[in-house]
Amino acid sequence: MFEIEIDGKIVNANPGENLITVTDREGISVPRFCYHNKLSVSANCRMCLVDVEGATKPQPACSTPVSNGMRVSTKNDKAKSSQKAVMEFLLINHPLDCPICDQGGECELQDVAMSYSSDVSRFNEGKRVIADSDIGPLIQTDMTRCIHCTRCVRFGAEIAGIMEMGGTGRGDSLKIEPFLQEGIQSELSGNMIDLCPVGALTSKPFRYELRSWQMNAVEGIARHDSVGSNIHIQTYKGKVKRVVARNNDNINETWISDRDRFSCDGLNHENRLQKPQIKYDGVWKETEWDTALVYSTKALLREVIDNKEESKLGALASNNATLEEYYLLRKLLKQVGSDNTDYRLNIKDLSNTINLDSNIKIKDIENIDYALLVGSYTRLEQPMINHRLRKSSLNGATIDVINSMSFNYNLPINSEYILNSSQIANLLARTLKAILLSKEQEIPGYLDKFKVSDADTQLANKLLSSDKSAIILGEHLINSDNSSNIANLISIIAEKTSSSTLNLSETGNSIAAKSTGFVPNENGLDANEMLASKMNAYILLDVYPKYDFHNSVSAINALRDEKTFVIALNSFKDSDVFDYADVILPISSYYETSGTHTNVEGEMQSFSAAVGSPKDIKPAWKVLKVLADLLDLSGFNYTDSSKVTSEAKQQIKQNIEHDREINLINTKGVEIIWQPSPYSTDALLRHSNSLQATKIGQLNTASMSASTAKSLKLSDTDNYLGVPVVISEVVADKCVFISSSNETISEKIS
Ligand code: SF4
Ligand code: FES
Repeated sequence: MFEIEIDGKIVNANPGENLITVTDREGISVPRFCYHNKLSVSANCRMCLVDVEGATKPQPACSTPVSNGMRVSTKNDKAKSSQKAVMEFLLINHPLDCPICDQGGECELQDVAMSYSSDVSRFNEGKRVIADSDIGPLIQTDMTRCIHCTRCVRFGAEIAGIMEMGGTGRGDSLKIEPFLQEGIQSELSGNMIDLCPVGALTSKPFRYELRSWQMNAVEGIARHDSVGSNIHIQTYKGKVKRVVARNNDNINETWISDRDRFSCDGLNHENRLQKPQIKYDGVWKETEWDTALVYSTKALLREVIDNKEESKLGALASNNATLEEYYLLRKLLKQVGSDNTDYRLNIKDLSNTINLDSNIKIKDIENIDYALLVGSYTRLEQPMINHRLRKSSLNGATIDVINSMSFNYNLPINSEYILNSSQIANLLARTLKAILLSKEQEIPGYLDKFKVSDADTQLANKLLSSDKSAIILGEHLINSDNSSNIANLISIIAEKTSSSTLNLSETGNSIAAKSTGFVPNENGLDANEMLASKMNAYILLDVYPKYDFHNSVSAINALRDEKTFVIALNSFKDSDVFDYADVILPISSYYETSGTHTNVEGEMQSFSAAVGSPKDIKPAWKVLKVLADLLDLSGFNYTDSSKVTSEAKQQIKQNIEHDREINLINTKGVEIIWQPSPYSTDALLRHSNSLQATKIGQLNTASMSASTAKSLKLSDTDNYLGVPVVISEVVADKCVFISSSNETISEKIS
């Protein structure tokens, strides 16, 4: 540990640290523009110049390493005059457009100028003007304001992993601009808005809406994936206006995905359901809450309870509900006498599901030295997990990938196996056999038929020799015939090689659903069994059949059955809800309700409502509570959702035991692998116009190899399952990889 003196104060510093790290830790203010603690040091703005004893010139605090006995002044005349001189240079070309700049009130240049600049400019020449580029629907550019700090450039190169912004020209002609005509494509692009210290990059959907000081900021949790990024929800007069990142080094550091940042756009969409509605004699009528709830209660009594047909009541929920909502709905059904609850709506065969526990902390992903990624395009599935994985690869980790299609990863991939699901299962089986042979352990019968090759042994050796390896399973294989085999093989391989596992087929708040027991026990029916049975009544919690079910046609037909009474709790009317429901109860959407999200590492993060729900819209937990009260069920007298949380937490089930039986199956015919657009995985995202306008939001391809296309009698001018065919040799044979937000796809998959 070094001792150094800063502004007359003796402080400790770690060898190798830069001065600015020490001043920040000690609360000594040093102005800066290019420095950011999560980016590399570029030291190009010179705003942080300080006086270091013995140095002839002022030194940039951000790039000057500490040395023992160093004496530094951040505020003497030499330091101050240098800082003021830099400020004067930076303002030479900066426009005086603060009154119309969206960064006003949160502009680092404006703040620093208050202390380090003069109110009179000595620069009388014309200012430089830079033409703006349209870089997409999320980020507004005003590049005349750019001060060339290069934070956005370094963000692309170091964090997003796609070099999209760069500097061209020199001196007065230096411009920061996107390299590519199509603009910014990164799934993390919105972080550049937070990073830009001036108003050169601002939020396009939020443009000219409000000043930052007019808004309240409420701490929240993003629920679009199983990371649970920490966010600030900025509100004004009861409306969510903007979402920005909130620092949590264990989860999302200082970044959030575009999905988490821009989804709030959808909250005020015209498709929001505004009032309860009941279908009376085949005609929909808006009504009051009391009437709708009594109507629902009477129907449940009539269809289920009075005639003792409790087992004919089912509850289906999306995977984005809160832990409290899952708990209450499960409790309600249980008390009525039904065990039919499920959230796994997109699984073709629920007897063949992925059961794989995750046992690695999100922050530890960046410290692994080897990762085997199976059936996942982490960039689009879980962008913040991908960020940690990218960090691990930059730290030297080796990443091998086993997928049915090759993707545009933003991290170096060591080797890539492009295989169909049977081949993936077989590769994992041979790898397991190689591991057992190497450990001289007994080989189970199901591995007898496999012959281990040198490549299998190499893969096994990587897992065996690594100190901190992880096997990551994604969502591509959820509907493969071998999905449970693959998950079980991964689980056994991880155990034999002391590897960690990470199950990214868990999405939204599905871990909370599982932990509250929102899956049927041995007495209950699963989602597919319910749809195949004639149920008397359903309670649907935030379910949108056209998007959520594996087979939306049969789901909608089952719900539409005249003899089935459907109570639909929804926020949006983006499905056929008026076709199949009998009562529609409009519920609060994201940020309008309190609750708890459980992330992939098991961290339960509770959040409060950032805004109240619009008039006549109620939080789902309250709706379920009142429904239970009207049904005369006991134990529902909660005064607020935190009471539900504490009760639910006492009954949480963790790491539910499941068998690891393996029975490998050879897939026949063409396999369809469906990855929905990351901006269509829930109703709020589907209603965010800004996200839908991005390239990622418009993904719409059915990729297949030439031989698969030939076997399906298709060419690249055709559509397959409603999606344009793309012939590509990076897709495994006999596989069709569909990336789309198109609701009609699932209608055609049976
Ligand atoms: S656009 Fe903003 S972040 Fe990028 S270099 Fe200019 S000032 Fe810095
Ligand atoms: S912050 Fe140190 S040179 Fe820019």
